[in-house]
Order: sequence, then structure tokens, then C-alpha cells
Amino acid sequence: MYDVISQEEILKHLKNSSIPIYVFDTIDSTNRFAKELSSDFALVVSDSQYQGRGRLARKFYSPKGCGIYMTLRVKVSDLYNAVPFITTISATGVHKAIKTVYDKDLGIKWVNDIFTNGKKVSGILCEIADDTHAVIGIGINFLSSPMPDDLSAIATSLFEHDAPVTRSELISLVADNILSLLSLLPDTSFMEYYKNNSIVLDRDVLCIQNDTSYPAHVLDIDSRGGLVIKTEDKVTTLSSGEISIRFKSQNPTGQT
Ligand code: BTN
Repeated sequence: MYDVISQEEILKHLKNSSIPIYVFDTIDSTNRFAKELSSDFALVVSDSQYQGRGRLARKFYSPKGCGIYMTLRVKVSDLYNAVPFITTISATGVHKAIKTVYDKDLGIKWVNDIFTNGKKVSGILCEIADDTHAVIGIGINFLSSPMPDDLSAIATSLFEHDAPVTRSELISLVADNILSLLSLLPDTSFMEYYKNNSIVLDRDVLCIQNDTSYPAHVLDIDSRGGLVIKTEDKVTTLSSGEISIRFKSQNPTGQT
């Protein structure tokens, strides 16, 4: 059954309850809206998006009733040094939150996709809003719904028909996790959790940048979230920027 996302239900579960909350039936993109706000912190949620944005300028399919589309606007001191950690904190916070309500296998695919059963169930788009603020946009496929064929080959949902929590409750869990990890910076001990739940370590992958791709073997994730890979001729470290990776056996549609 589809639930109704509401500010009241989010607030019922949210520990950081002083943060302004915006809930829409539909919006172009919660990231776009959050970037234009003037408050230091905000939580923006929509039941659907008609111009949902993904990483690397991709679209993010955001139908109504079955997904979570949320953006946290955050103030971060020393933002430019914190950037790599905002990404890994977001993945850690989303993974931890989903874990509390979902007992199947769940892993983090570098840099910040959440996977279950070999398919993507959540994607995260972190963007800089200004010198001191970032927006963290999170999409979670919550309940199963018809997807375009190219997506259903590579994406899945957490729950089939009934969920053990409301979307509002999971939104609160995600928001609280991320806000609390960010408040601990420069403590980066969460990186241990991130690495322990990574599904890319010791895997053969394809690294994709613009129109080119090359094979590599993942050796490690470094203390700043960089991906340490071995290619044919060298060992190198990738930062998340413009690169994405794909498992060698994965569907080649490029959506992951
Ligand atoms: C990715 O997988 O490439 C990242 C997807 C991020 C999607 C979320 S949904 C809420 C927020 N608003 C957007 O327009 N994008 C993010």
C-alpha cells in the first residue's frame, strides 16, 4: 500500500526536529529547490519529481507513491575539505538507515550507490550550493512499481507491496544519520563502516569517464574515500568527480 509522506509523520521520528521541512506532492527536483533556500539546514521531500537529477547529468526516474526523493541542505564548516566525506557520509547514513528496516543483503557501491541483490536500490547526488552549504539528494526505490525496461534490468526496490515502515519514517532515519555523521567531522571513523559494507573491494570493474572506459581491479578505498585501483600498467586512486564504475558482468546501459 502506498503511504502519504507528511511533515507530521517525519517530525514524529526526526531527532533533529528544529530543521525546516518542506513536503511537496511534486516538484522538478528537490536538489534544485534545496539549493535555492537561504536557511543553513533544511529537509526537502517530494512524492514525485518531474526533472529528477542523477549523477553525471543523468535523469533520475521519480514516479509518485513508491519512492523516496529527499534532499538535505546542510551547512558544513571547511566545506571544500569536507567534500569527499559528504559523499561517503551520505552513503553510510542511507545504508545504516535502510539496514534498520530491511534484513536482506545491502551494500555500498563506490561511490554512493546502495545495492541489494546485484541491483541499485538507492542513488545519491551531492552538490555544492555555495561556499558553506551543500545539498545531499537521495533517491530510494521504496515500493516496487513498473519501471522502464532499461531501468528494471539494473534497479530494484526495497519492498514488494507492504513495507514495515512508512516512507516518512525512513526519511527521518536517513536525515538523522547523515546530520549526526556530519556533526562529527573531522572525525571520519565512519569510513570503517563504509569500507566494511563496500561491494567493490577486490572486484574487477570498468571505470567509465565521459566516453571512455577501461578495466581495473579494486585494491582499496583510501581514508578520504578514494578508490585505489590497479590497471594494466599502474596503481592509481580515483576520486568520485566525473568517474563511475561498473561491475564487469553488469548490464551495459550505463545507468549505474
Ligand atoms: C544517482 O543515482 O545518479 C543519484 C540520484 C539522486 C536522486 C535524488 S532524488 C532526490 C534528489 N533530487 C534530485 O533531483 N536528485 C536527487
